[in-house]
Order: sequence, then C-alpha cells, then structure tokens
Amino acid sequence: MELADDLRVPTSPPDPHEAGRLAAKHGVVQILSPPDTPGAFVEFLSALGTLIFTDGETPVPGHPDLNVVTNVGRKTPPKSVFHSDTSYVPHPPSYSALIAIDVPDAGGATWFTEQYLAFETLPPDLQRDLIGASLLHGPSDVPVTEAQWHPLVRRNPITGRAALFLTSLARCRQLVLRDGTDRSDLIERLYTHSIDPRHRRQHQWRKGDVVLWDNRCTLHAADHSAVVGDRTLYRGMVEGEAPLPAHG
Ligand SMILES: [Fe+2]
Repeated sequence: MELADDLRVPTSPPDPHEAGRLAAKHGVVQILSPPDTPGAFVEFLSALGTLIFTDGETPVPGHPDLNVVTNVGRKTPPKSVFHSDTSYVPHPPSYSALIAIDVPDAGGATWFTEQYLAFETLPPDLQRDLIGASLLHGPSDVPVTEAQWHPLVRRNPITGRAALFLTSLARCRQLVLRDGTDRSDLIERLYTHSIDPRHRRQHQWRKGDVVLWDNRCTLHAADHSAVVGDRTLYRGMVEGEAPLPAHG
C-alpha cells in the first residue's frame, strides 16, 4: 500500500509537532507542502528534538546534521534489510526522515513495517512472555561493551502503545526474558514476523518528497532490487529517549 492513501500531514506549512504525533500513531507519514531545501528540512526536524549523526555516514556538504543516502558511484547496488536506525546506542533516534533529492526512473521505494501490529498479532501467551524481555542491539563484530540492551517490547511515549522493538538480524545479538532466561532462539521468528508482507507499507519517491517515521514503532528498508537511475536522499535523525519498557 502506498503511504499517500491515508498517511499525510495536510497543513501548510506543515506543523512538525503534528507530524510527530501522526508518525507516532501511524508509524510513518508523508509531509505535504514539505520543506523544500536541506536547510528548511533541518529546521523542520529540529523542532522535534536534537539532531544526531551516526559515525561512518557521509555528511551533506553544508548540513553536517544530515547524511547522504545514495546509489551514485557504487559498483554494486547498496544492500538494505529491515532495521531500526542506529538502535545500538543508549538514546536511539525517535524519528528519522528523508528528503528525496534525486529520484530514479524506476524502483527505489522504501518499505516500512508496523511494529505495534507486529506485537499485537503475536500469540497472547508469547506476548506475555516477551513483556519485560531485553534485546542486546549491536553489530556482532564490536565488543559487547559497545552494544546496548533495550526493552524488546517498547512503549511509545506519545501513543502509550506497545511495539516490538528490534532491528536487522545482524544487529540483534541476544534476547533475555525478564526472568533471565536466554531466548535468543526467538529472534529470527520475531524478525520474520515483523517483516511479514501484511505488516508493510511502501513509499515510492518523487523528487522533493519528505517522509517522516517513528523508529519506536517501525522498521524500514530500501528496495534496491530494480533501481534504474540515480537515487539520492538526505536523512536526518532526532535523538530519542532511553527506550521505555511496555507494561504487562
Ligand atoms: Fe535506515
């Protein structure tokens, strides 16, 4: 399903706080009458909190809070699997947003999952077992001291709803229930359930589009499978709270 059917922020100029509330409710929103320059995009996002930048990304010239996402100059298509942005830090980004700078002639959509729904559609006994569980986020090639534990079932402070909070399999290292039982064997099942096509929406980009999502209740991935042409977007991220556990 395309986002534009029902997930839009209609006010002009767009109200960042209304956009944030809608993103928390729906996971992802497209901003109509969007900020039309990188500077205006930064200003829009800054209303939602402090912008953060992940080491290793490529900054946008003149806009050090933004990073470049592009297929230009790459010999092989970029790889993208469903993930939550930079989840391996104490305060992962609450919101991320992209502005489309160059849009390919074909392909290059971004997919979003619905992590409230992913939690709510688990069997009730499994939901009960997972409340209070913790997941260790971080690449497997870094020391465990540089990884970060977060609640697996996370309460979005805006909506109060519980969402399954995980990221790409390569960055989900260990799952421990509230009684200390290691259930890392569940990680793959929970990830596969999260990215089930029934829990997905996509956005097909047009030049100038701005899409905002709440990392607390979505996963996302780019579809690089059949891209024809240059695809360049700029991304900004807003620092979030230490993830809140959901109540039983
Ligand atoms: Fe991402």
